[in-house]
Amino acid sequence: MTTITLIRPNSDFLPAYEGALRQGWSPNTDRNVSQAHLERLEKLRDDPEGFLYEIYRSPTVRMPDGSDMERLPAHDFWISDGEFCGRIGLRFQHGTEDLPPRVSGHIGYSVVPWKRGRGYATQALRQILPVAQSEGLARVLITCDDDNVGSQKVILANGGTFAGERPHETRLDHVKFTYWVATSL
Ligand SMILES: CC(C)(COP(=O)(O)OP(=O)(O)OC[C@H]1O[C@@H](n2cnc3c(N)ncnc32)[C@H](O)[C@@H]1OP(=O)(O)O)[C@@H](O)C(=O)NCCC(=O)NCCS
Repeated sequence: MTTITLIRPNSDFLPAYEGALRQGWSPNTDRNVSQAHLERLEKLRDDPEGFLYEIYRSPTVRMPDGSDMERLPAHDFWISDGEFCGRIGLRFQHGTEDLPPRVSGHIGYSVVPWKRGRGYATQALRQILPVAQSEGLARVLITCDDDNVGSQKVILANGGTFAGERPHETRLDHVKFTYWVATSL
């Protein structure tokens, strides 16, 4: 099996990131931010670092309802097998495993469709767990839709334990499954 690496978002991979957006891939599970990212890329065509700052380091984050919330401490990575494969990110609050009510979980990930089914998300989650541990988190909360079998397998393969259901904010006939995953395997 090909081993993936987690790399920091960087301007070398930005054309591949843009290509993935243009093919309809969304880096965000709960809403399609492809169009918004493409628009920001157009505006910052000559300033790749400015674009990366806006999506990963600016002080606020745009929420699904269009409002802005303060950005939590985070570690964002792109998944690479030599090519751009997707993203995974950790967000958290220092000194607690609690998250603000509007944040669904500590970790989110999305693999581009043409790299799926190769174990990449499973590996990416495994590789980000020590990062969470190094931030003082003994376990992380991950949520996914009740019909997202792929993500459920990714979580279970990393030792996730089911922690109940939550209402789904946008798909009203579905629920979110929640899982705790210990950061030391
Ligand atoms: C969910 C997702 C991250 C899985 O990525 P991936 O790299 O294909 O996952 P893996 O290859 O590590 O697959 C893990 C397991 O899930 C299975 N799987 C993957 N996609 C599946 C699907 N759509 N339906 C059923 N099983 C699936 C794989 O076969 C594998 O099973 P196995 O361990 O029994 O062989 C990817 O489909 C994706 O990015 N989806 C859109 C965004 C998303 O849902 N993110 C998760 C938010 S919680």
